[in-house]
Amino acid sequence: MSANMVAVLYLLSALLFIFALRGLSHPESSRLGNIFGVVGMVIAIITTLMFKSVLSYVEIGSAILVGGAIGTFIALRIEMTALPQLVAAFHSLVGIAAVFVAAAAFYNPSAFGIGNYGEIGMSSLIEMSVGTFIGAITFSGSILAFGKLQGTVSGKPIVFKLQHTINALILIFIIFLIFLFVTNQSPTIFWTIVLVSILLGFLVVIPIGGADMPVVVSMLNSYSGWAACGIGFTLSNNLLIITGALVGASGAILSYIMSKGMNRSIISVVLGGFGGEQAASSASDNSDKIVKQGNAEDAAYVLKNADSVIIIPGYGMAVAQAQHALKEMGDILKKEGINVRYAIHPVAGRMPGHMNVLLAEANVPYEEVLELDEINPDFPMTEVSFVIGANDVTNPAAKTDETSPIYGMPILDVEKSQTVLFIKRSMATGYSGVDNELFYRDNTTMLFGDAKKMCEDIVKSLN
Ligand code: TAP
Repeated sequence: MSANMVAVLYLLSALLFIFALRGLSHPESSRLGNIFGVVGMVIAIITTLMFKSVLSYVEIGSAILVGGAIGTFIALRIEMTALPQLVAAFHSLVGIAAVFVAAAAFYNPSAFGIGNYGEIGMSSLIEMSVGTFIGAITFSGSILAFGKLQGTVSGKPIVFKLQHTINALILIFIIFLIFLFVTNQSPTIFWTIVLVSILLGFLVVIPIGGADMPVVVSMLNSYSGWAACGIGFTLSNNLLIITGALVGASGAILSYIMSKGMNRSIISVVLGGFGGEQAASSASDNSDKIVKQGNAEDAAYVLKNADSVIIIPGYGMAVAQAQHALKEMGDILKKEGINVRYAIHPVAGRMPGHMNVLLAEANVPYEEVLELDEINPDFPMTEVSFVIGANDVTNPAAKTDETSPIYGMPILDVEKSQTVLFIKRSMATGYSGVDNELFYRDNTTMLFGDAKKMCEDIVKSLN
């Protein structure tokens, strides 16, 4: 295949990737976005396989088959709620792949057209070492993020004295190592960069608590993109440079959006120390307060007699997979002439767009699904707020209690509606470990139980 043809096909793939990102920005166009991404990737892979430098199709084909089979198996089995840790695990592979590609280019530079062993050009060495550094950090950081999200490692932030100073010193040491590597091309220094960067990846993620982990995963996603971009330079592969930059930039933007949703700066997320179990003990402070409880029949009665209902889904709806039963309930209420809408908090659930995806799966019309800024002014005029498996995103302490770890996070103003119905299984806290005083308010009725079962029972009562 001629170089011009390769350039045209790579450009086409890059355009399709950009259309894919555009499509993924809205639930309605996300399927089409996915298709663009898949077609772009197929074109990219076939074009790359047409290179004259490809030595063995058998080896590449076997790797694609084995990797593809494992990926398909995992993707089919994975629970929606476990997606963040799966993404973290996949990023670790991108990171280590970047390290291996750099090592291959270092030991066999002629195969990559960047000179001979020991005589590699300076710019290639810089690209290679920076790609290695970012790849190794992504590898270890993602493994730790996976462990924290999966619960195999405690989600509690691990903080110690001079932590940030030590990290800064290690970073300076790595920059010094890169300088040495570029000047003497020593394999020992190359592998020292790898090892020290792996150490830094662990150290950067250990102070970050569970609640901030999705932001970290998205930042590691961004790093993995930049690592791929760096390797694209080493391999002189324009498509890898473009794709890496797209992943890098979109991951960074997503981290920013998530941090904004939690009213935290990216810097404070990176410096860590938030989101462990430190606030869980506050739950006991409210043990003597009275909690009003109800059942499905009570809820059906209240809902049926309302004019307007706002449904607030959260992580518990995802756990219970209650979206279909919820939609059925919403449809019955709409038939009764009740104004039913869904309020989505930007960080409800455990990943960006988590609730939107679930509601779309249940065919909830997009126009009924409103963002925090759009719906918040309507709560004072609403009769019933129906909170299903959400907790932190409704907690008024975020507005009133300066000592609360979630202080400053924008929340859905459910407490301003006339009645709040709260489905959850117990009085347990949400992800941030902060107790929710809304449970004890006069206008709140707790509906204890699994979200799906409770919705099904409400549907039965409504019928
Ligand atoms: P949470 O505050 O985590 O609360 C979810 C609630 O669901 C829990 O209190 C739990 O109470 C209940 N629940 C669990 N399983 C249930 C089931 N089967 N049936 C009924 N209820 C069930 O969730 P949220 O309000 O969606 O807030 C999200 C949290 O994640 C925030 O703290 C946010 O900062 C954090 N976070 C999210 C993101 C993204 S991108 N979404 C990123 C970073 C951080 P019980 O155990 O009593 O049932």
